[in-house]
Amino acid sequence: MKKIFIGTNWKMHKTIKEGQEYCRELNRIARDKDERMQLFIIPPYTSLTTLRDELDSSILLGAQNMHWEDEGPFTGEISPSMLKEIGVDLVELGHSERRQYYNENDIDLNKKVHAALGKEMIPLLCIGEKLEDKEMSISEESLSIQLKICLKNISSSQAKNVLIAYEPVWAIGAGGTEAPADYVHKMHDHIRKVLVELFGDIGQDIKILFGGSVNRGNAIDYLKGSNVNGLFIGRSAWDLEKFEPILNDIEQFLQLN
Ligand code: 13P
Repeated sequence: MKKIFIGTNWKMHKTIKEGQEYCRELNRIARDKDERMQLFIIPPYTSLTTLRDELDSSILLGAQNMHWEDEGPFTGEISPSMLKEIGVDLVELGHSERRQYYNENDIDLNKKVHAALGKEMIPLLCIGEKLEDKEMSISEESLSIQLKICLKNISSSQAKNVLIAYEPVWAIGAGGTEAPADYVHKMHDHIRKVLVELFGDIGQDIKILFGGSVNRGNAIDYLKGSNVNGLFIGRSAWDLEKFEPILNDIEQFLQLN
């Protein structure tokens, strides 16, 4: 059974109480969804402990970042063991907002990918080209570089536990532009090619999710790409009144495929 991953990054949104209400409702929605749809949510750190108890175990819980060291003089940082202690399943690494505002770079992200795998948490590695890269027609090169550095010295057996989120920087957030589906499919095919180059046959099984202004109008078109294995959604998933219809459309899409 091939799973598709559908999840949301809450960024810096929702109090603990708002998160609890969201999870209760999402648990209800998830109960009668196709088992091939693997849901996940990525709340802020402050909600993780409470939401671990609130969320059905069928839905994965993720953190938005972490340090690579287990402890040390790193004020303001959270370590892999701290997340593991809470029971976090997945760690988002290298979101473009972290790269842009907090100077995250591919070399440090490589340490974080190793650290997450070392603690048996799923790294959700975010990559994406900037608008300048796209305008210079070097999107594919930019994605190759990010993948090759971030996944350096990851073995094929470890790589099967990695998730990739392709999020073109120019498509993310309120100021973003929706990416055309054929462009997204082309970039996913390229990412697949690099993953196979790096990890052989295992590279075929690594899930590649798409994110950036995903909404009800474009979600299914993105999922039609043969190398699109899920969606990573911000704004359109923060309110379940918007997210539930998208999940219903995906459910229908799965039934037909
Ligand atoms: P939007 O869906 O709001 O563009 O955000 C996507 C995102 O950043 C997911 O990590």
